[in-house]
Amino acid sequence: MTKTATFFQNRIKNGAILAPMAGFTDAPFRKICREFGSSYAVTEMVSAKMLVSGQQSGIKVGAPYPGEPDLVIQIFAADPQLAAEAARILAKKYNPVAFDLNMGCPVKKIVNKGCGSALMRDLGLASSIVRALVNSVDIPVSAKMRLGFDAVNVIEAAKAVVDAGVSAIAVHGRTATQKYYGEANWDEIAKVAEAVNVPVIGSGDINSPASFKEQRKKGLGVMIARGSLGRPWIFGEVQGDAAPTLGEVVRLAYRHIRLNADWYGEQRGVKMLRGQLGRYFSSFREGPSLKPHLVRVSSINDFVNLMKSQFSTNLLSD
Ligand SMILES: Cc1cc2nc3c(=O)[nH]c(=O)nc-3n(C[C@H](O)[C@H](O)[C@H](O)COP(=O)(O)O)c2cc1C
Repeated sequence: MTKTATFFQNRIKNGAILAPMAGFTDAPFRKICREFGSSYAVTEMVSAKMLVSGQQSGIKVGAPYPGEPDLVIQIFAADPQLAAEAARILAKKYNPVAFDLNMGCPVKKIVNKGCGSALMRDLGLASSIVRALVNSVDIPVSAKMRLGFDAVNVIEAAKAVVDAGVSAIAVHGRTATQKYYGEANWDEIAKVAEAVNVPVIGSGDINSPASFKEQRKKGLGVMIARGSLGRPWIFGEVQGDAAPTLGEVVRLAYRHIRLNADWYGEQRGVKMLRGQLGRYFSSFREGPSLKPHLVRVSSINDFVNLMKSQFSTNLLSD
């Protein structure tokens, strides 16, 4: 087995992987998910063109902590040379363990540029981009795709990118035109694993230990995206950990706020987290009454005062 294949082989065996989510899978969130057992994490997609043209100096929201371990950077591109150049810039700047090519984004703005899921309709170009990436860096390259653009062609696509040199494939079990409608089709994902000789990681609708277990039985790696928002402990739960108590969740949300404040500055960092804070408490009786207050917190103190006013005991300290 090549050195590059080993990284993914080893990492898909235990637990789940934090899937890329633009605007969410930033350094603080990746850190928390990693602590709960996410076996690696993928940044949101980075535009090769913006990076190489100098319009963007690095990863925007998802920039890593200095020395952040197990970082996989996702690139979107429609041009092999730009992709290769972007990978060289990013490798030097951030020292990731792997690159991932986005072949799944269904957003019009991205597809119209020939990027993301548009590559599912141009497998020749997708292969050229993969080849250019593989030749430009000495770390593994993976590709994250959908079942197809409008029709299912994922097996053909997977074989094409494996021939071009990817070390792993992640598949979101929907076509691009399905966006997020319907259910992710894990049977189709399992067929991909039978057709190629690299690790295959499934993505779509994993939001509980039970759904993780169900799909894991198929021998696939498992990615979690939306199911981890406001519930980063899902990475521990899928490995047998108990769900946290209300006090633990209060302290975790508090920690997330402080990490965001340190990373982005308090005003921006707290504001960015407002949407997720409500989710932290959604499985608790107190969730619905807390939510309208949580979406209005503007500072760490607001959060502290809110917790003190809502709970009779001080849940912020152990
Ligand atoms: C807000 C959001 C942003 C996303 N951004 C990306 C992205 O940058 N790159 C990518 O490959 N997939 C992206 N995805 C897709 C997810 O990685 C994942 O494949 C999809 O959400 C299905 O998994 P889930 O049901 O666990 O959410 C995004 C999904 C969401 C909800």
